[in-house]
Amino acid sequence: MKVTKALILRCFLASLFLSLPFVFLYLLFPQQPHHPITNKDLKIRPGYSSYEAYIQRQLNKTLNPKLRKIWTTRDWNRKIPVFARFFEDLKDKSLLRNSSKALCIGARVGQEVEALRRIGVVDSVGMDLVPYPPLVVKGDFHNQPFPNDTFDFEFSNVFDHALYPQRFVAEIERTLKPDGVCVLHVALSRRADKYSANDLFSVQPLVELFRHSTLVHVREVDGFGLDTEVAFRKKGEPRHHL
Ligand SMILES: *[C@@H]1O[C@H](CO)[C@@H](O)[C@H](O)[C@H]1NC(C)=O
Ligand SMILES: *[C@@H]1O[C@H](CO)[C@@H](O)[C@H](O)[C@H]1NC(C)=O
Ligand SMILES: *[C@@H]1O[C@H](CO)[C@@H](O)[C@H](O)[C@H]1NC(C)=O
Repeated sequence: MKVTKALILRCFLASLFLSLPFVFLYLLFPQQPHHPITNKDLKIRPGYSSYEAYIQRQLNKTLNPKLRKIWTTRDWNRKIPVFARFFEDLKDKSLLRNSSKALCIGARVGQEVEALRRIGVVDSVGMDLVPYPPLVVKGDFHNQPFPNDTFDFEFSNVFDHALYPQRFVAEIERTLKPDGVCVLHVALSRRADKYSANDLFSVQPLVELFRHSTLVHVREVDGFGLDTEVAFRKKGEPRHHL
């Protein structure tokens, strides 16, 4: 017994000693600015030969008649109350108001837009590759069809579909008014669907991408396979109308 203990102790001390150089290296070069956590915690999925191929694949899902039927019937009544509860919570936290001009990105048939309107946020619209009037207008989230400083509030649960996450976020920050709020629902602990274009493993990459915003909160949600809500507020003074 004594021998084993002594051996374990020796091994432990030896490994401690061997790791010292790495500890010193770490202390000398704690952060490599060009190796942000983004690389590790946000991975773009391979397999899209071009932007057109990516769009085709997204359209394939969005236009699938079987899925569209489900979205507008069974899902319609099941999901709207859940979205409404999420948005009511955001109202309680003063991140959303009845008077907010709101955009839902990647809204498909617009369940979240309908939810916003039902709880009183009447100036709400959705955007997707395929329009669904009157709730959803046509637009690519990599290139939003709106002028700068348009919205008070933007919501999306399709961050994982972004082939260019940097563009996705830059477009949100461009079209949000100063002091405007963006709320994303993302999957951190499980992988999203086969149409996803990226995988996110922590909120850190989002914090880095939202360069012109401050993180407001991160909380767990149960949002149709998405487990985390992240809220940002765009920096800058709100414009006061004279
Ligand atoms: C689109 O879907 C059809 C059948 O649902 C499939 O045959 C086709 O390969 C798909 N195209 C792309 C680009 O994924
Ligand atoms: C917001 O709109 C809802 C639904 O129309 C209404 O019940 C609620 O009282 C409004 N809230 C405020 C603060 O005006
Ligand atoms: C809109 O915002 C972008 C990014 O912030 C900026 O580069 C561009 O100059 C702005 N355009 C106008 C018309 O202000």
